[in-house]
Amino acid sequence: MRLDKFLCETLGVTRREATILLRRGEVTVDDKVIKVASVKVTEASRVEWQERHLPMPGPRYFMLNKPDGFVCSHEDNTNPTAFALLDEVNIDKLHFAGRLDVDTTGLVLITDDGQWSHKITSPKRKCQKTYRVWLENRIEDDYAEQLEAGIQLRSEKDLTLPAKMEVVDLSQNELLLTISEGKYHQVKRMFAALGNKVERLHRESIGAIILDDGLEPGEYRSLTADEIESIH
Ligand code: URA
Repeated sequence: MRLDKFLCETLGVTRREATILLRRGEVTVDDKVIKVASVKVTEASRVEWQERHLPMPGPRYFMLNKPDGFVCSHEDNTNPTAFALLDEVNIDKLHFAGRLDVDTTGLVLITDDGQWSHKITSPKRKCQKTYRVWLENRIEDDYAEQLEAGIQLRSEKDLTLPAKMEVVDLSQNELLLTISEGKYHQVKRMFAALGNKVERLHRESIGAIILDDGLEPGEYRSLTADEIESIH
């Protein structure tokens, strides 16, 4: 692919703007400043603009360990957006494959591939998500059974789909819950319906994709090819 076309696609600039960046000496290919628009770049080329690596154009997939206090949207009047944690170009083309509440932490998947994210968010696909939950009050003996049978949420017609609960630490009211839906505030509403209250919520996995324990809150990484393909 020609270098100017590559810049247009990765930076979202026009051909003319790409030529200006090149003339200014802002672009390197394999550590050499290149000013010629017709130079060819391949998968093997390392292209940098203003010392920032530009990946080959194509779909992008990331996992982020969302910290408390960040919203999963492009704009918010009150809280910072989780997109601000990404050091990427063309952020406006990215979206969340399933959002978390502002006070929920953990795994969020971010992509510009709408078909891929649809497989995660479409109710028909029943993609499983696992949450670590800390409750305000004790975990009652019948919770697992009730969650498996389905919970009647306020202002919903149908019961929730069977959910799997596993106690982690009774003394801390800590458990793991796996659900295969993504209704608004679903986990909080499920425990509210059981007469309890979620104090803290952390998403650990989406389908087979598990939050990388090497990622501190606010850190992110690209998904591996296996992780991307595991969503089908
Ligand atoms: N369920 C909730 O209640 N909140 C989230 O952020 C995710 C699932």
